[in-house]
Amino acid sequence: MRAEPGVLDAIRRRRAVWRYRPGTVDRQQLSLIAEAAAYAPSADDVKGVSIIAIDDPSQLAAVIALSPGILGEPTAALVLCVDWDRRARLPAGARSEDTAWFDVGAAAENALLAAEGLELGATPITSFHQPAVAEILSLPSRWTPLAMIAIGPRRHRLIAPRPEVLEGRLHWQQYRP
Ligand SMILES: Cc1cc2nc3c(=O)[nH]c(=O)nc-3n(C[C@H](O)[C@H](O)[C@H](O)COP(=O)(O)O)c2cc1C
Repeated sequence: MRAEPGVLDAIRRRRAVWRYRPGTVDRQQLSLIAEAAAYAPSADDVKGVSIIAIDDPSQLAAVIALSPGILGEPTAALVLCVDWDRRARLPAGARSEDTAWFDVGAAAENALLAAEGLELGATPITSFHQPAVAEILSLPSRWTPLAMIAIGPRRHRLIAPRPEVLEGRLHWQQYRP
């Protein structure tokens, strides 16, 4: 049997985290996670997702106060923003909000897997007040913060194999009930 690529291991181990350990996420780690997000595929390669990295405690506290979806006490966050001006370069047919969400989702998963690789806890967040967060981050008017990644040291190494994860969800060649 062929050896499995290591990335599959990270994919299987990654879990959302709702309790963090006190401690810092250093800038180098945060930069690596942001870089991973930026490596994600994007529609027509326009790279329409820009990132605000937050590691300043008071700025983070202000964002957390506007984000009911952030549970626990992460020590850093990446805010994934759609840059509609960059997306204006897309062919008209690819400009829908669906592809914006796809781009953000791909960036988010890359960031989550990078955090997993660095043995940090990370959780995707969409429950936050977008206009208020945009204001606090001084975002250009043509940027929308669509998602965040809350990041922090995690309490334990989470290993939770879920062999049932595909059950009823994979169909070969055609759908069969
Ligand atoms: C689009 C989306 C939005 C999410 N928003 C939040 C959120 O606001 N707060 C939160 O704690 N988790 C959020 N999550 C994390 C999910 O609750 C989590 O991924 C799910 O429970 C499955 O757990 P797992 O990531 O450990 O597999 C979100 C996940 C996705 C995909």
